[in-house]
Amino acid sequence: MRTYKFDNDDTMPAIGLGTWQAAPGEIGAAVHEALRLGYRHLDCAAVYGNEAEIGEALQESFSKGQVRREELWITSKLWNTAHAHDQVLPALGKTLSDLRLDYLDLYLIHWPVAMRPDCRFPKVPEDMISLEKLPTTITWGAMEEAKRSGLAHHIGVSNFSVAKLRDLVAHAKMRPEVNQIELHAYLQQGQMLAFCEQEGITLTAYSPLGSKGRPTGMRDSNEPVLLEDPTLKTIAERHQASVAQVAIAWAVQRGTSVIPKSVNPKRLAENLAAAELTLTADDMREISAMDRHRRYVGGEFWAIKGGPYTLVNLWDE
Ligand code: A2P
Repeated sequence: MRTYKFDNDDTMPAIGLGTWQAAPGEIGAAVHEALRLGYRHLDCAAVYGNEAEIGEALQESFSKGQVRREELWITSKLWNTAHAHDQVLPALGKTLSDLRLDYLDLYLIHWPVAMRPDCRFPKVPEDMISLEKLPTTITWGAMEEAKRSGLAHHIGVSNFSVAKLRDLVAHAKMRPEVNQIELHAYLQQGQMLAFCEQEGITLTAYSPLGSKGRPTGMRDSNEPVLLEDPTLKTIAERHQASVAQVAIAWAVQRGTSVIPKSVNPKRLAENLAAAELTLTADDMREISAMDRHRRYVGGEFWAIKGGPYTLVNLWDE
């Protein structure tokens, strides 16, 4: 499988297992199955509410000798409620204790959005803290400490626009090494891809299959369904592959890492096997014509009326 190399020679496998929306009670078995199949990259986050069960599965796999810690790439993310400088390391400590790990391979700021420590999800404008009051550079300073301490071998961000990334690069002592964003054929983000290539920042594609399992409140009844797209279906038929495999192979061939979520053994295997699929230049051209700048994860939940965040200042577009 393709890997992405970091400046200390660590390597991130291109295909990882996404764990958002993997419910407690099913994620443990999925992690066991994923490791058995050969997944070596797991994408986690404190807010997904399932890190303790993932940690238990990891611990069992290590103690059985199924896999060694150093063979894995494990990412987690800092939730919006812990952006204050003195809250970052405690939040990382909680994630490490839940995952039962001594270090993360990668720790990301989950969103360029700050919230009061006592709210998990915002309901009123007062739950939000503006980036003027709590700038990302403050949070980033603590992320740099996390890297210096060795608790996170690499640090980065998620859901950052090019403008926010550029600003962070300009002010950071240690550069963000990864930006994890929504990326698929309907949201190709060419400008971001070019910027990250130029800056040596690895891009990770989330919701690569169109996130059909996300909460109903985040879905539109008439939204385009990526996995039913006729162009992707035709390409999949040409390769005797599944549409999901085409979507994953496309992400890898663009030079991004990609974290399809599944808790189903058959689909876990299918998604990993996308590493064997090579799309032709024509396939890639056909897919590049599919872009429609369609977000499935629009960030509306941060744009509370009367609060400091709007969709315009969130995405800078
Ligand atoms: P499941 O966990 O039951 O397999 P995304 O990674 O874009 O968020 O998409 C995840 C959604 O896609 C989940 O609902 C997941 O369900 C489903 N899924 C994962 N792999 C496949 C696949 N190979 N084919 C079809 N659906 C898939």
